[in-house]
Amino acid sequence: MDKQPRQHKPKNLLVTGGAGFIGSHVVQRWVTGHPEVNVVNLDALTYAGNLTNLTAVEHADNYTFVKADIRDGAAVSKILREHKIDTVIHLAAESHVDRSIDGPMEFLDTNIMGTATLLHACREYWKDTAEGYAGKLFYHVSTDEVYGSLGAEGLFTEQTSYDPRSPYSASKAASDHIVRAWFHTYGFPVVLSNCSNNYGAYQFPEKLLPLFIHNIASEKPLPVYGEGINVRDWLWVEDHAAAIEVILRGGGLGETYNIGGENEWRNIDLIRTLCRIMDGRLGRAPGTSEKLISFVEDRAGHDMRYAIDAAKLRDDLGWRPSITFEEGLEKTVDWYLANSDWLKEVTSGDYRSYYARQYGDR
Ligand code: NAD
Ligand code: TYD
Repeated sequence: MDKQPRQHKPKNLLVTGGAGFIGSHVVQRWVTGHPEVNVVNLDALTYAGNLTNLTAVEHADNYTFVKADIRDGAAVSKILREHKIDTVIHLAAESHVDRSIDGPMEFLDTNIMGTATLLHACREYWKDTAEGYAGKLFYHVSTDEVYGSLGAEGLFTEQTSYDPRSPYSASKAASDHIVRAWFHTYGFPVVLSNCSNNYGAYQFPEKLLPLFIHNIASEKPLPVYGEGINVRDWLWVEDHAAAIEVILRGGGLGETYNIGGENEWRNIDLIRTLCRIMDGRLGRAPGTSEKLISFVEDRAGHDMRYAIDAAKLRDDLGWRPSITFEEGLEKTVDWYLANSDWLKEVTSGDYRSYYARQYGDR
């Protein structure tokens, strides 16, 4: 099986989960940056998927949206054939750790069975085309959380053993193994990446940064889990989308690439920095937003530290983050403050946030 770097050129690209946070950046990048590529966005539009994330491209000639569930094999097969899909970027998933603790089965179903259903449908279609697997690629987007939890030292490399701790990360780990099984067993053309925590525009306001920006703006408490000493490695979402393109085009078949920003922050330090930026933006006296910090019961099985070694991606494919964290965080704050209508719209459906269920609608 070919493991050499190559130049993959998609013609008809299927993005699953394209109405979600990372997916909407991936879709926008391909639709606007590559008019020669037809981009089909397959999304079930769960609470986390919102077409308002894609208004910038919704009328583009090379863009099509199809509402479908990756667990529906017949629907997926039809879409693959109708649009002659040669390349898949698979992002659709249930993605929030707290929700996976509350309700694990949906995570196992979507992330494991959904991925298997999609793989099976792609293989059934691609193996019988005239050119077989030539010119085809299945790109599986995954998380660094599959590697488990680090102590104070060390970084996750592509060789780190899997040790997932939450229902979310376990379901993503299972999906990674299934994708690799398709490569080894069937010679099915795959590439994978495992990325650290993303931040930026269009992130659903249940994850740390958009939730806390919103709560600071509306003077609600900031629930910091445990002592706030857990560490995450933050990456600008558009840099993730750029890395996905670099890997899709040049990554070796069957290979995995870690993606990260070399940007580790203890939660409490990040939250204090955010509070300082927000005080400035909202014209509040220094120290005002920090008073909203409220230490709450720790998340069950809370992974202590994630940190990525992205040397393989940097050395083999030349990718680097494009902006500093300071720039990215300020841009992110400005985007959420300027888009309060977006926030209202995405939280207006039949949806009650994890925050509201846990801490009340205060
Ligand atoms: P998200 O929750 O914002 O978006 C997920 C999207 O998938 C939504 O549009 C949702 O409607 C769609 N979806 C969910 N179930 C579906 C189903 N059964 N069929 C079709 N569509 C379905 O998630 P995100 O943060 O954008 O993450 C995207 C991917 O990237 C996930 O696979 C996640 O594991 C991975 N990832 C995320 C991060 C991060 O920091 N957010 C980091 C690394 C990897
Ligand atoms: P989150 O954005 O949920 O991402 P992940 O769990 O995938 O890393 O959380 C980031 C960190 O912030 C994580 O250590 C948990 C913590 N956290 C809080 O302290 N309070 C909160 O309300 C949330 C949502 C997260």
